[in-house]
Amino acid sequence: MPFLPGRNVCLRFAAFLLFVGCGLFGFGSPSWASSKANNVDPYVRRYLDVQEPVSLVMNAEGQTRVFSAAEMSAGKRFFEDNCKNCHVGGTTLPNPTVPLSLEALRGATPPRDMVLNLVTFLRQPMTYDGSEETYACRQVPESWLSQEEAENVSAFILRSAQKAPGWGNTTF
Ligand code: HEC
Repeated sequence: MPFLPGRNVCLRFAAFLLFVGCGLFGFGSPSWASSKANNVDPYVRRYLDVQEPVSLVMNAEGQTRVFSAAEMSAGKRFFEDNCKNCHVGGTTLPNPTVPLSLEALRGATPPRDMVLNLVTFLRQPMTYDGSEETYACRQVPESWLSQEEAENVSAFILRSAQKAPGWGNTTF
Protein backbone atom coordinates (compact mmCIF):
# COMPACT_ATOMS: atom_id res chain seq x y z
CA MET A 1 0.00 0.00 0.00
CA PRO A 2 2.34 2.70 -1.14
CA PHE A 3 -0.36 5.38 -1.09
CA LEU A 4 -1.33 5.18 2.57
CA PRO A 5 1.55 7.12 4.11
CA GLY A 6 1.02 9.83 1.51
CA ARG A 7 -2.67 10.07 2.25
CA ASN A 8 -1.90 10.17 5.94
CA VAL A 9 0.44 13.08 5.52
CA CYS A 10 -2.20 14.74 3.42
CA LEU A 11 -4.78 14.31 6.15
CA ARG A 12 -2.40 15.68 8.74
CA PHE A 13 -1.68 18.62 6.53
CA ALA A 14 -5.40 19.27 6.18
CA ALA A 15 -5.81 19.05 9.94
CA PHE A 16 -2.92 21.44 10.36
CA LEU A 17 -4.51 23.89 7.93
CA LEU A 18 -7.78 23.63 9.82
CA PHE A 19 -5.95 24.31 13.06
CA VAL A 20 -4.16 27.37 11.67
CA GLY A 21 -7.40 28.55 10.10
CA CYS A 22 -9.21 28.32 13.42
CA GLY A 23 -6.41 30.18 15.10
CA LEU A 24 -6.53 32.98 12.57
CA PHE A 25 -10.23 33.30 11.98
CA GLY A 26 -11.85 31.60 14.94
CA PHE A 27 -9.90 32.64 18.00
CA GLY A 28 -8.71 35.80 16.31
CA SER A 29 -12.11 37.39 16.00
CA PRO A 30 -12.85 38.18 19.67
CA SER A 31 -9.88 40.54 19.82
CA TRP A 32 -10.95 42.25 16.60
CA ALA A 33 -14.49 42.47 17.85
CA SER A 34 -13.44 44.03 21.13
CA SER A 35 -11.95 46.98 19.29
CA LYS A 36 -15.30 47.65 17.62
CA ALA A 37 -17.34 50.54 18.93
CA ASN A 38 -20.47 48.43 19.37
CA ASN A 39 -18.86 46.17 21.94
CA VAL A 40 -20.50 46.54 25.35
CA ASP A 41 -18.75 45.64 28.59
CA PRO A 42 -21.19 43.77 30.88
CA TYR A 43 -19.86 45.79 33.83
CA VAL A 44 -21.21 48.95 32.20
CA ARG A 45 -24.70 47.50 31.93
CA ARG A 46 -24.70 45.93 35.35
CA TYR A 47 -22.83 48.26 37.69
CA LEU A 48 -23.09 51.54 35.83
CA ASP A 49 -26.71 50.76 35.02
CA VAL A 50 -26.48 51.86 31.39
CA GLN A 51 -29.23 49.91 29.63
CA GLU A 52 -30.50 52.67 27.41
CA PRO A 53 -28.15 55.54 26.50
CA VAL A 54 -27.81 57.95 29.45
CA SER A 55 -27.65 61.72 29.45
CA LEU A 56 -24.83 63.43 31.35
CA VAL A 57 -24.25 67.09 32.17
CA MET A 58 -21.48 68.55 30.02
CA ASN A 59 -20.85 71.97 31.58
CA ALA A 60 -22.04 74.58 34.06
CA GLU A 61 -24.54 75.84 31.46
CA GLY A 62 -26.36 72.54 31.86
CA GLN A 63 -25.80 71.24 28.32
CA THR A 64 -26.04 67.48 28.06
CA ARG A 65 -24.79 64.69 25.80
CA VAL A 66 -26.20 61.20 25.52
CA PHE A 67 -23.76 58.29 25.96
CA SER A 68 -24.47 54.74 24.84
CA ALA A 69 -23.29 51.65 26.69
CA ALA A 70 -20.80 51.05 23.85
CA GLU A 71 -19.33 54.54 24.18
CA MET A 72 -18.95 54.12 27.93
CA SER A 73 -17.38 50.71 27.38
CA ALA A 74 -14.82 52.30 25.04
CA GLY A 75 -14.10 54.87 27.77
CA LYS A 76 -13.73 52.11 30.32
CA ARG A 77 -11.25 50.21 28.14
CA PHE A 78 -9.11 53.30 27.68
CA PHE A 79 -9.24 54.02 31.41
CA GLU A 80 -8.19 50.49 32.25
CA ASP A 81 -5.29 50.56 29.83
CA ASN A 82 -3.95 54.00 30.71
CA CYS A 83 -5.26 55.30 34.02
CA LYS A 84 -6.02 52.37 36.26
CA ASN A 85 -2.46 51.92 37.55
CA CYS A 86 -2.86 55.11 39.55
CA HIS A 87 -6.66 55.26 39.78
CA VAL A 88 -7.76 51.71 40.59
CA GLY A 89 -11.40 51.67 41.69
CA GLY A 90 -11.58 55.45 41.38
CA THR A 91 -8.89 56.07 43.99
CA THR A 92 -5.71 58.07 43.34
CA LEU A 93 -2.82 56.02 44.65
CA PRO A 94 -0.06 58.67 44.43
CA ASN A 95 -2.29 61.23 46.15
CA PRO A 96 -5.23 59.62 47.96
CA THR A 97 -6.68 62.99 48.97
CA VAL A 98 -7.68 63.56 45.30
CA PRO A 99 -9.75 60.48 44.35
CA LEU A 100 -12.20 60.29 41.43
CA SER A 101 -15.26 60.25 43.68
CA LEU A 102 -18.14 62.57 42.85
CA GLU A 103 -17.50 64.57 46.00
CA ALA A 104 -13.82 65.11 45.20
CA LEU A 105 -14.52 65.96 41.54
CA ARG A 106 -17.18 68.45 42.58
CA GLY A 107 -14.90 70.09 45.13
CA ALA A 108 -12.10 70.87 42.67
CA THR A 109 -11.53 74.35 41.27
CA PRO A 110 -13.10 74.59 38.74
CA PRO A 111 -15.48 71.68 39.49
CA ARG A 112 -14.74 68.47 37.56
CA ASP A 113 -18.08 66.72 37.95
CA MET A 114 -19.11 67.65 34.38
CA VAL A 115 -17.98 65.95 31.18
CA LEU A 116 -16.37 68.93 29.42
CA ASN A 117 -14.64 70.12 32.58
CA LEU A 118 -13.16 66.66 32.94
CA VAL A 119 -11.97 66.76 29.33
CA THR A 120 -10.35 70.15 30.01
CA PHE A 121 -8.57 68.61 33.00
CA LEU A 122 -7.34 65.67 30.92
CA ARG A 123 -6.00 67.97 28.20
CA GLN A 124 -4.00 69.81 30.87
CA PRO A 125 -4.09 68.34 34.39
CA MET A 126 -4.14 71.02 37.09
CA THR A 127 -3.64 70.90 40.84
CA TYR A 128 -6.79 70.52 42.92
CA ASP A 129 -7.12 74.26 43.58
CA GLY A 130 -6.62 74.97 39.87
CA SER A 131 -3.64 77.24 40.54
CA GLU A 132 -0.98 75.41 38.55
CA GLU A 133 -0.28 72.57 36.12
CA THR A 134 0.44 69.18 37.64
CA TYR A 135 2.66 66.52 36.15
CA ALA A 136 1.53 63.84 38.60
CA CYS A 137 -1.43 62.84 36.42
CA ARG A 138 -1.38 61.71 32.79
CA GLN A 139 -2.04 64.28 30.12
CA VAL A 140 -4.33 63.25 27.23
CA PRO A 141 -3.61 65.47 24.20
CA GLU A 142 -5.82 65.58 21.08
CA SER A 143 -3.16 63.64 19.18
CA TRP A 144 -3.96 60.73 21.52
CA LEU A 145 -7.73 60.98 21.98
CA SER A 146 -10.23 62.89 19.88
CA GLN A 147 -12.74 65.19 21.58
CA GLU A 148 -15.45 62.55 21.38
CA GLU A 149 -13.22 59.80 22.75
CA ALA A 150 -12.05 62.01 25.61
CA GLU A 151 -15.72 62.69 26.39
CA ASN A 152 -16.35 58.92 26.49
CA VAL A 153 -13.55 58.44 29.04
CA SER A 154 -14.86 61.33 31.10
CA ALA A 155 -18.38 59.91 30.91
CA PHE A 156 -17.12 56.57 32.19
CA ILE A 157 -15.43 58.31 35.16
CA LEU A 158 -18.51 60.41 35.95
CA ARG A 159 -20.97 57.57 35.65
CA SER A 160 -18.71 55.38 37.82
CA ALA A 161 -18.54 58.15 40.41
CA GLN A 162 -22.35 58.31 40.35
CA LYS A 163 -23.10 54.59 40.30
CA ALA A 164 -20.25 52.16 40.90
CA PRO A 165 -20.27 50.75 44.44
CA GLY A 166 -17.25 51.99 46.41
CA TRP A 167 -15.80 54.03 43.51
CA GLY A 168 -13.16 56.41 44.88
CA ASN A 169 -13.99 55.57 48.47
CA THR A 170 -11.72 52.65 49.16
CA THR A 171 -8.91 53.37 51.56
CA PHE A 172 -5.74 51.31 51.26
C1 HEC B 1 1.13 58.17 37.35
C2 HEC B 1 -0.13 58.16 38.04
C3 HEC B 1 -1.36 58.65 37.29
C4 HEC B 1 -1.86 58.21 36.09
C5 HEC B 1 -1.29 57.17 35.14
C6 HEC B 1 -3.09 58.95 35.87
N1 HEC B 1 -3.31 59.79 36.93
FE1 HEC B 1 -4.93 60.99 37.16
N2 HEC B 1 -4.14 61.77 38.85
C7 HEC B 1 -2.95 61.38 39.42
C8 HEC B 1 -2.66 62.23 40.58
C9 HEC B 1 -1.45 62.13 41.50
C10 HEC B 1 -3.73 63.15 40.66
C11 HEC B 1 -3.87 64.30 41.64
C12 HEC B 1 -3.11 65.46 41.03
C13 HEC B 1 -3.07 66.70 41.89
O1 HEC B 1 -4.14 67.12 42.38
O2 HEC B 1 -1.99 67.25 42.04
C14 HEC B 1 -4.64 62.83 39.57
C15 HEC B 1 -5.84 63.48 39.36
C16 HEC B 1 -6.78 63.09 38.44
C17 HEC B 1 -8.12 63.65 38.31
C18 HEC B 1 -8.74 64.73 39.20
C19 HEC B 1 -9.41 64.08 40.40
C20 HEC B 1 -10.16 65.08 41.25
O3 HEC B 1 -10.80 64.64 42.25
O4 HEC B 1 -10.15 66.27 40.97
C21 HEC B 1 -8.72 63.02 37.26
C22 HEC B 1 -10.11 63.26 36.73
C23 HEC B 1 -7.76 62.07 36.72
N3 HEC B 1 -6.61 62.13 37.48
C24 HEC B 1 -8.00 61.27 35.64
C25 HEC B 1 -7.02 60.46 35.05
C26 HEC B 1 -7.22 59.76 33.80
C27 HEC B 1 -8.48 59.78 32.96
C28 HEC B 1 -6.05 59.08 33.55
C29 HEC B 1 -5.72 58.22 32.36
C30 HEC B 1 -5.58 58.93 31.11
C31 HEC B 1 -5.15 59.35 34.64
N4 HEC B 1 -5.78 60.20 35.51
C32 HEC B 1 -3.89 58.79 34.77
C33 HEC B 1 -2.15 60.34 39.00
C34 HEC B 1 -2.29 59.64 37.81
